[in-house]
Amino acid sequence: MNQQIAKFSRIGFVLSATGAAVGLGNIWKFPYITGVYGGGAFVMVYLVTILLIGASLLIAEMVIGKRGQKDCVGSFEEIAPKNAKGWKYAGLMLFTGLVIMTFYSVVIGWIFYYIYISFIGLPTNLQDAKDTFDALYSNSAALQIVLHLFSVVFVAVVLLGGIKKGIEKTNLILIPLLLFILLGLLVYAINFDGFTKAVDFMFAPDFSKLNSEAIIRAVGHSFFTLSIGVGSIMTYAAALPKHSNIYKAGMMVAFMDTLIALIAGLVIFSFLFEFGGAPDKGPGLVFVSLPIIFAKLGTIGTAIALVFFLAMAVAGLTSAISLVEPTVMYLEQRLGWFRKKAVIVSSGVYFVVGVLVIFSISNGYKEFFTFGGKSLFDLLEFSVDSFLMPLGGVLIALFVGFVLKRDIVEGELLGHMGNGVFKIWYFSIRYIAPIAVLFLAYNALKV
Ligand code: PHE
Repeated sequence: MNQQIAKFSRIGFVLSATGAAVGLGNIWKFPYITGVYGGGAFVMVYLVTILLIGASLLIAEMVIGKRGQKDCVGSFEEIAPKNAKGWKYAGLMLFTGLVIMTFYSVVIGWIFYYIYISFIGLPTNLQDAKDTFDALYSNSAALQIVLHLFSVVFVAVVLLGGIKKGIEKTNLILIPLLLFILLGLLVYAINFDGFTKAVDFMFAPDFSKLNSEAIIRAVGHSFFTLSIGVGSIMTYAAALPKHSNIYKAGMMVAFMDTLIALIAGLVIFSFLFEFGGAPDKGPGLVFVSLPIIFAKLGTIGTAIALVFFLAMAVAGLTSAISLVEPTVMYLEQRLGWFRKKAVIVSSGVYFVVGVLVIFSISNGYKEFFTFGGKSLFDLLEFSVDSFLMPLGGVLIALFVGFVLKRDIVEGELLGHMGNGVFKIWYFSIRYIAPIAVLFLAYNALKV
């Protein structure tokens, strides 16, 4: 028990934490909510939140993991002052990762399906595209279960390899591949007239479009996209070598995550504006609107569809790995399980609940998995966005801001940040972040 955790290399950590942060949130959710909430002004709120709150919390979460060097519960316990060891229970936020995986893995399954239809033929008109998505979403429980299982198995195989041979190695290969594909698509799209329109849409703010719901969504999304409050980043940081600069690493991850969301948005909107699709189509944006456009482009379109969905799968899978690893490390370290048993049991749990999630959206079964008018899918997603992640965020902020001894925090950051930046960061963690998160959770529950 409590064996030493294998350590990442520096680049291995940055790429793995980037892999954790960059996910479906960047390539699927960010573009579609930007479309729904009207573009520029929404993007501006999102960017400001990342800078003022998101990046600070990310660094705070890293402080706990890097100092504690253990699973989440163990790290809180290790570094809490003697009279505050009860804070170890805050580490149970690690189970949020499994909750997220119950639906995240199902969505990754949809992406696998779209990789497949890129080969066999994309839908060519809107009705066709809607029918294709709908047939998968509501009428193919068995197929969705198989696809979900593929994703579960992929993640489990990587996790069995451990930090170095599994997680680090996979991210060292997949994250550069993801960047390469997205940059390639950006270069292709830059020559479109639609590209200028996309830049306008995303960066020229029209504040009349900004309502309170848009602000709540922007703040909430900045948490989700940076993977804050579920122990993923904390667990990865526990595998950092002693003298790592977590300020630099954290800023790098926040920067990469934002950059990739912006590139994904620019690529998707360029295609939409160039070939006449509407930006405000909601969750179906990449599954319904984009495939028709790709189909219009013939062979090159098929190739683009293929690499685009491949990039999405890569982004999703590298995040999925980080959602399950906290539980695996916890079972290994606290309960003394072998990694193999820990991986199989945790994968089994979210696989089974994921199957129920699939039933909750499938015709013929959904009545049994719908509560108060909401499917299990919606309920889980809602509880993560509005309750579990904000809770994790507040606990991290309060712990680092008020419970953890100041010299421990300074020891990790002051030398790297310098006095001025440290003061701003500390203020943000103690006051701005908790207040903003509580405000977010309160308003989200009201909506
Ligand atoms: N940040 C990931 C995304 O954008 C999701 C995620 C959340 C991953 C929490 C790990 C932990 O898709």
